[in-house]
Amino acid sequence: MDALVTGGAGFIGSHLTDALVALGGRVKVLDDLSAGLERNLNSGAEFINGSITDTDAVAQAVEGCEYVFHLAAHGAVARSLANPLGSNEANVTGTLNVLTAARDAGVRRLMFASSSSIYGGADVVPTPETQPLRPRSPYAVSKMAGEWYVRVFAELFEIETVALRYFNVFGPRQRPDSTYAAVIPLFISALLDGQPPTVHGDGMQSRDFTFVTDVVQANLCAARAPSEVCSGNAYNIAPGATHSLIELLDMLGTITGSNVAPNFVAPRAGDIRLSRADAALANAQLDWHPTHNILDGLRETVQWVQTQRP
Ligand SMILES: NC(=O)c1ccc[n+]([C@@H]2O[C@H](COP(=O)([O-])OP(=O)(O)OC[C@H]3O[C@@H](n4cnc5c(N)ncnc54)[C@H](O)[C@@H]3O)[C@@H](O)[C@H]2O)c1
Repeated sequence: MDALVTGGAGFIGSHLTDALVALGGRVKVLDDLSAGLERNLNSGAEFINGSITDTDAVAQAVEGCEYVFHLAAHGAVARSLANPLGSNEANVTGTLNVLTAARDAGVRRLMFASSSSIYGGADVVPTPETQPLRPRSPYAVSKMAGEWYVRVFAELFEIETVALRYFNVFGPRQRPDSTYAAVIPLFISALLDGQPPTVHGDGMQSRDFTFVTDVVQANLCAARAPSEVCSGNAYNIAPGATHSLIELLDMLGTITGSNVAPNFVAPRAGDIRLSRADAALANAQLDWHPTHNILDGLRETVQWVQTQRP
């Protein structure tokens, strides 16, 4: 499959690039390395060091591609609180740039990395895609705007689009060292250092944790699904299970053999209590069926973090 992966030096995008290169075909990566790492780049893919906000770089990147997997973004809710304009520029303007260039270059289908954060704490749990969207951060607003753009482009122009709402992805290559690191790499690092992991609130908030290779498979399934079924749609991507942060710490304590008691601090503003997907639509329409259970995924992730440490 001839494809472009935006954000292909990042956590999820680099795993997706590896899978696409293994499938054969010409694969390109567009990334500005603002959060991604050179060591994540697959040598079988052509790397373009540039921003999705740069129209020339994007035009060069989409040229000759049949599929675009658009993952480049400013991630993390907290980052968008610190710099809402930056998030908007990358996630909304950048997405519109990629979409427009893809349409103009005759790309067949674009997969957009959306986020469960757009539900903003749904009343119905497990949450189906039909629930109202109530974004509670600039990041979530930017992902919702991206979704609307990709849907409207599928309706108006000769391009197929699919939005995938990822729920709390984890796995190897997720950085524990960035300012806005996610909870799993932070917990693992703390436990391996023998330090108390920081828990915001009482730790009973729960999430639908999704292993990265299942997200890669969701992207491949979305690229292959019949257009009359999936184009213009948005799909929840998660196993549909939920675990509290305390349960997560228990599992990680067993895997790492380190049971340091957590340090409870004030809850974070806007933190969602319970997040769990109803992924029946992706199961049925994309033929996507996640295969990793959380314990196996955590073991693989801990092993990877251990190999990265001095
Ligand atoms: N990790 C999760 O739990 C999660 C959940 C929901 C949605 N998502 C979405 O999935 C996508 C990938 O997330 P990730 O966790 O791999 O994050 P990541 O930060 O590891 O990857 C994002 C990549 O995009 C690149 N990038 C950022 N701005 C860019 C720009 N202007 N031009 C070119 N490249 C740019 C970064 O350098 C990085 O390599 C993002 O769109 C994110 O919003 C992630």
